[in-house]
Amino acid sequence: MSTPHVAWPTLAPPPNRDEVLVGDCLDVLPQLPAGCADLIFADPPYNLQLRGDLHRRDGSLVDACDEQWDQFESFAAYDEFTRQWLTACRRVLADSGSLWVIGSYHNIYRVGSILQDLGFWVLNDIVWIKANPMPNFRGVRFTNAHETLLWCKKSEQATGVTFNYQQMKAENDGKQMRSDWYFPLCTGAERLRDEDGQKVHPTQKPLALLERVVRAASQPGDLVLDPFAGTGTTAVAALRHGRHWLAIEQDRGYAEVCRERLAAEAAALAEAADPHAVYG
Ligand SMILES: C[S@@+](CC[C@H](N)C(=O)[O-])C[C@H]1O[C@@H](n2cnc3c(N)ncnc32)[C@H](O)[C@@H]1O
Repeated sequence: MSTPHVAWPTLAPPPNRDEVLVGDCLDVLPQLPAGCADLIFADPPYNLQLRGDLHRRDGSLVDACDEQWDQFESFAAYDEFTRQWLTACRRVLADSGSLWVIGSYHNIYRVGSILQDLGFWVLNDIVWIKANPMPNFRGVRFTNAHETLLWCKKSEQATGVTFNYQQMKAENDGKQMRSDWYFPLCTGAERLRDEDGQKVHPTQKPLALLERVVRAASQPGDLVLDPFAGTGTTAVAALRHGRHWLAIEQDRGYAEVCRERLAAEAAALAEAADPHAVYG
């Protein structure tokens, strides 16, 4: 387990709380003040249970997520990890805050059961329908074309949870926003790639998906926390919409990607606010 790069509460008070914290979220979360986060978005390991390489019919290799952090010895080990990080998140979540978890059929039922056992109260399950899903290469199952987002408050009794209902309705041509969301996978210019053209991260989420979550369930100035930051998509969405953010990532390489991405986003926002700034 690695040491956090910066430990709260040595961070400056708001508005300077926008940091990438490097470490295992099970170590970092206990160092944050109770109730500090207004919105938590978690994209945890899915425990995809991949058994060896996956090939297309033409024999080419599928670029699947086979990283160490997604591998667990058993369902029991995965459940225990899930229980630990959800418990740690519950402590840092404000009483009026909400928690989102994204997952697939591999893990989301386990996550949902555990979070209900811990006292969270499910508000919605949102289905992210992928406009451009990967086919089922072997042709033995349906195309797996969606992921699920669970949106929860801290308890059944919790009040004051942010839901920007009117804004969501306005974004849906004046009709109540539904729980089926259509977004393409993260591809094209948005997908971060290294100098060899390889994906920087196997599971980078589309920014548009995270932007909707942030706009729906937080207010400007709120603190948005992501305990499994990856490339920092949640933090970028928060920054873009005037929220504070905290990103926790255990892999130093990914954390660096996160920092660079956020610095670029901040610079772009500053330039958009003052287009002459770059010319002095
Ligand atoms: C599914 S990915 C998140 C991708 C992210 N949403 C994005 O758009 O880039 C999960 C990330 O969590 C990190 N991770 C896994 N276990 C962790 C832990 N215990 N603490 C902190 N980070 C962890 C992994 O290194 C990986 O980058």
